[in-house]
Amino acid sequence: MSTSTIYEKRRAAVARALKAAGGGIALLPTAPEYPRNRDSDFPYRHDSYFYYLTGFDEPQSWLVIASSGKTTLFCRPKDLEREIWDGIRLGPKAAPARLGVDAAFSTDALDEKMPALLANQKSVWFPFATHEGLGARVDGWLDKVRTRVRLGDEPPPSQHDLCGVLDEMRLFKDSHEIAILRRAGKISAGAHVRAMQTSAAMLRKPIKGGLREYHLEAELLHEFRRHGSQFPAYTSIVAAGANACVLHYRAGDAELKAGELCLIDAGCELDGYASDITRTFPADGKFTPAQRRLYDIVVESQYAAVKATKPGKRFNDPHEAALRVLAQGMLDTGLLPKAKHGKVDDVLESGAYRQFYMHRTSHWMGMDVHDCGDYGEPGTKPREDKDAMGQPILRRPSRILRPGMVLTIEPGIYVRPAKNVPREFWNIGIRIEDDALVTAKGCELMTRGVPVDGDEIEALMRG
Ligand code: GLY
Ligand code: MN
Ligand code: MN
Repeated sequence: MSTSTIYEKRRAAVARALKAAGGGIALLPTAPEYPRNRDSDFPYRHDSYFYYLTGFDEPQSWLVIASSGKTTLFCRPKDLEREIWDGIRLGPKAAPARLGVDAAFSTDALDEKMPALLANQKSVWFPFATHEGLGARVDGWLDKVRTRVRLGDEPPPSQHDLCGVLDEMRLFKDSHEIAILRRAGKISAGAHVRAMQTSAAMLRKPIKGGLREYHLEAELLHEFRRHGSQFPAYTSIVAAGANACVLHYRAGDAELKAGELCLIDAGCELDGYASDITRTFPADGKFTPAQRRLYDIVVESQYAAVKATKPGKRFNDPHEAALRVLAQGMLDTGLLPKAKHGKVDDVLESGAYRQFYMHRTSHWMGMDVHDCGDYGEPGTKPREDKDAMGQPILRRPSRILRPGMVLTIEPGIYVRPAKNVPREFWNIGIRIEDDALVTAKGCELMTRGVPVDGDEIEALMRG
């Protein structure tokens, strides 16, 4: 299937959804360009929704889809002077043939054309709360329509969030998306292998100044980019020793020392799709007994979560499965003294495990690393549940897993120094994260090009 057909099919699906809801028109801008400092911008990254429906990555573009099926694109006009500085623009004239849209205009014509496109539609759909100022912009166009009421133009009487429609589509990955996600996962796995091997090699032959977190970050970026990845999918975490207990740590300049662990959470973005891998390994390639003890608990918890990732299970099931193994491990190692905390069910009930495991095990992944998609099963009623901190909340039953969904599986244990916590475990932070595609029978881990098993990691780092 040609890629333009993929985007045309997705746009047709949006048009059908609008029609099924009584008709209307949808509009969607791509992402703005953000200034970094003075006249330099951050590297440009398109809006995921917009790219999902167009495959077009030029800034200042807008897509309009009517429930009739007619599609209109607004894009930057051709401009020889700007193209000399910034690069070729597609331009509105070439857009219909290239992108399969029915009509295309310059973005400069947006304010002039949009009121006419919105007039006399049953409803207007646009993404709520994702594009700053968009609601006000739409209101401005609707006000323009209102000035023409005596000429017979009416503004759409209702507004709807387009994200609801697009999130549900994006939750189920098609074969084109799965192929890219697999490639992204493979590249990222290779980058983790490279970082592990570099770590061991650099500690075998120490350099002046020592091995630093940024050395390993550089290896990751090198491997991502040399395979064609455009960006990291998110800011890479390379955390030496105790830094691994800071969940949102970035790669800094701390020294990686023999005898300590290194936690790397990094994944590339490839052609608009993320990957998200975490591995934790001994900086010099050899786990200490205390590290290995906790490491093996996290491995076992991840296996339990993987087993619970299959069609018919719920999104929460891998989390519950991982939690049970982690909680048992916390009791067995004395992180949670049995005399105080009782048995595994008591720990799950009391939430005492949160001292060492305070995040959830999964999130959807796709174009965005924390991808869109409803975590509750659509069409069900909210019921009493507990949030991550154990507080009572109302929430719908968790989503039933179905083939084509992609989620991460990322259990961990983080031990901050504290009284009553065995000293041998202090400052150990471990997370293992893979990206799972739900298949007809179970799940496919797309990121296992880098090992998880402790012995395999040691062997890889000796090599
Ligand atoms: N790297 C972001 C996450 O694991 O959720
Ligand atoms: Mn993740
Ligand atoms: Mn991650």
